[in-house]
Amino acid sequence: MCGIVGYIGKKRTSKLLLNCLRKLEYRGYDSAGIAVFAGGELKVVKCKGRLASLEEKLCGESLDGTMGIGHTRWATHGEPSDVNSHPHLSRSGNIAVVHNGIIENYMKLKEFLLQRGYEFVSDTDTEVVAHLVEYHYKGDLVQAVTATINELEGSYALGVICKNNPEEFVAARKDSPLIVGLGEGENFIASDIPAILEYTRDIYILEDKEVAALRKDQVKVFDSHGIEVKKNIFHVSWDVTAAEKSGYEHFMLKEMHEEPKVLKDTINPRIKDGLVELDNIKISTEDLKNIDKIFIVACGTACHAGVVGKYIIERLARIPVEVDVASEFRYRDPLINDRNLVIIISQSGETIDTLFALRESKKKGARVLAVVNVVGSSIAREADDVLYTWAGPEIAVASTKAYNTQLAAIYMIALDLAYKKGSIDIETYKKTVEGLKDTPRALEKVLSDKDAVQKFAAQHYNAKSIFFIGRGLDYALSMEGSLKLKEISYIHSEAYAGGELKHGTIALIEKGTLVICPMTQDYLMEKMLSNIKEVKARGAVVLAITQQKNIEEVEKAADVVIPIPDVDSLIAPIVAVTPMQLFAYYVAVQKGCDVDKPRNLAKSVTVE
Ligand code: F6R
Repeated sequence: MCGIVGYIGKKRTSKLLLNCLRKLEYRGYDSAGIAVFAGGELKVVKCKGRLASLEEKLCGESLDGTMGIGHTRWATHGEPSDVNSHPHLSRSGNIAVVHNGIIENYMKLKEFLLQRGYEFVSDTDTEVVAHLVEYHYKGDLVQAVTATINELEGSYALGVICKNNPEEFVAARKDSPLIVGLGEGENFIASDIPAILEYTRDIYILEDKEVAALRKDQVKVFDSHGIEVKKNIFHVSWDVTAAEKSGYEHFMLKEMHEEPKVLKDTINPRIKDGLVELDNIKISTEDLKNIDKIFIVACGTACHAGVVGKYIIERLARIPVEVDVASEFRYRDPLINDRNLVIIISQSGETIDTLFALRESKKKGARVLAVVNVVGSSIAREADDVLYTWAGPEIAVASTKAYNTQLAAIYMIALDLAYKKGSIDIETYKKTVEGLKDTPRALEKVLSDKDAVQKFAAQHYNAKSIFFIGRGLDYALSMEGSLKLKEISYIHSEAYAGGELKHGTIALIEKGTLVICPMTQDYLMEKMLSNIKEVKARGAVVLAITQQKNIEEVEKAADVVIPIPDVDSLIAPIVAVTPMQLFAYYVAVQKGCDVDKPRNLAKSVTVE
């Protein structure tokens, strides 16, 4: 949520900032702005709307100085407008600030500053930071920013430049991500790695309440007491093309097409001689005796992966699993203790609700295992154990490939726990391992048959409401299918357990209502066929997704059937989700929606 960048060096600053911001636009696109120190002046250009509007506004204006900061916004305090756009200036206009996060005590700080004659022009919480830095500024920007952050409550990643400090700009963070990029004769800050990967692969990951002072040939990092901190350089190994569209119309389409590859990357290195080996995660048989309950905590799509995880872990490892939405978990004083394992799932590793849930779990003595995609992210750094999903950068706001890899990771955790606990017979173990290894091949087939999904989407993109129903693992999958559809196509959608629909929601089914039914669970087939009949009797049009072997049977009940290869029922969610992702994608494209940047959303949700 919100992307910030900063630069000091010799390159054409405004062009560079815009280039970096383009790679961060997935974090918010309500407004954009830059502040550049040029010709002894601090110049700010900002406006409501996407980066393209800012580029239009900048047209002809030369803002090429030696340092600058930039921002792309997902609005929290104050509507998207020119005046609420970042950067925000201090009273004198000498200090400019970009911010990602929420300053929770901004009202109190605003009151303090108003009493001292400061005037506010925006509705944002960020403006207090600009004024407060100025209030503390006595010629040393690092000292002023340090004094400021010591008064802030909430979350922030900040970039601050000051007209009186032409050789240096300052950055700081707490609970919102921020990295420092180390170049030659130039240095950077950014909310995320893709923004600066074109310029450098060496970075510092800032920790909470650290303050970085960037000069063109030097970066120093201090703690909140002003003591210099020695940082380790993190070298980014992945390639810049991984964060580009590479000829696909949308990132979302590209990312779905990457699913077979990223599943291979996530699964294959962890299967050795037919056994699952989870990197350095050492949950021993002895440790397992002390674990009487597992919590899976996450948000959105990652939480839906957790619901699949509940079914799989309970079935294979026979340990009770509770799945929680992170924003609820944290505030309900959860009953967790040192006999619990908490599995945190997050693509970005920066989702603030999930991060706080992790901290709450650790505070209460639980062991925390994180399934994370972004190496070095806050959740990865704070968890006791980390299992990375090797999905590569996910740029589209709607998560696709990350979900498939989250499932793969959870299956491997379930297998590992089950094996150590002795709750799985060797045949099921082997079959599941083989099934996992086979998912990339099955997905290649699903993707090569995508035209059938596109054709069906073209017939139904005008639907007002679409239901997803399923039983068991297919119910968990339905939740994700429904979320994908609504977030990018803006069609109302609900996911229901097949057997639950008739307890109320079936009242909404009328002639022509589209109902999508994943049907991959052999032992529930008969029950689902009955549920299809129930909705069809009320006029519904039914699309079923099932293994090739079931086609004939399912075709007797459903109007249209999308086949997936004959994967085992237990493994099926990893494969069957993709036709639903494709359906959401093609419906959104057909409706002319902005698939990669759906309205009101942003990736990496760093506000509560
Ligand atoms: C939906 C989506 C979100 C995220 C959620 C958690 O397509 O992407 O629901 O899954 O915001 O994000 P992470 O996984 O980064 O913690």
